[in-house]
Amino acid sequence: MDSKIILAHRGISSLAPENTLAAFNLLPKYNIKWLETDLGITSDKHVIIMHDDYLDRTTNGHGLLASTSYRNLHKLSAGAWFSSKYADERVPTLEELVSFVNRTKINVNIELKAVVSNNANEMADSLVHQFAQALDMIDPAIDIIVSSANPIMLLKLQQLRPHTEFAVLFDKTNLKDDWQLIMQSCHAQFIHPESEGLTREKIEQFKSSHYRVNVWTVNTLCRCNQLFNWGVDGVFTDFAQRLSYTDDY
Ligand code: G3P
Ligand code: MG
Repeated sequence: MDSKIILAHRGISSLAPENTLAAFNLLPKYNIKWLETDLGITSDKHVIIMHDDYLDRTTNGHGLLASTSYRNLHKLSAGAWFSSKYADERVPTLEELVSFVNRTKINVNIELKAVVSNNANEMADSLVHQFAQALDMIDPAIDIIVSSANPIMLLKLQQLRPHTEFAVLFDKTNLKDDWQLIMQSCHAQFIHPESEGLTREKIEQFKSSHYRVNVWTVNTLCRCNQLFNWGVDGVFTDFAQRLSYTDDY
């Protein structure tokens, strides 16, 4: 892997609506080598690309994703909220993501979102199983990191695809003294901590334990420089187009 990596958070999400093919298709244009994106699941168990549990913020629909069928989801605009120019964007499927990375050879960090539903366990199992099969369809030359804030989902995938590389996501409220126990429990090689409140000392602890460290979400050049100087391996940013030269850090 590159020594310093820039991960386009939900695609180049400052220029096009997050988690759409329009936002993903900007990566080759700006020579960005890594995409970060989020997986969710519909009521009829289609695995799709969406960050939120609810449709309301990033589509013109309403309610829980896990209570919406794929047929109904596909009728919604995933881009009109961002700009009328993107009104025809649809919520991408996992299959479309696989096609995108295979076509462009963009490396990808795929985040498994916890499922919010009254049958969350069954839905999460379906998401993990379908995702394991999709991983087999990705060109082996493409680097993949599978991440989640939910160690159980990572562990389930780890049991199905043990040679995958895993990351545990921590936000500032759940990065506690037991972080290494959680990392070990799901055999993760990467730690993905939130930028806010993250200190040099903490990064030195991660690195001295031989973890690779990618920090989210870093939207200023100043913080990006600071984190790289402290030894992090990568940053997630909504403004990847401004950081596309960082191989030279
Ligand atoms: O994976 C990094 C980052 O995406 C984690 O937070 O909420 O943007 O998915 P979130
Ligand atoms: Mg994410």
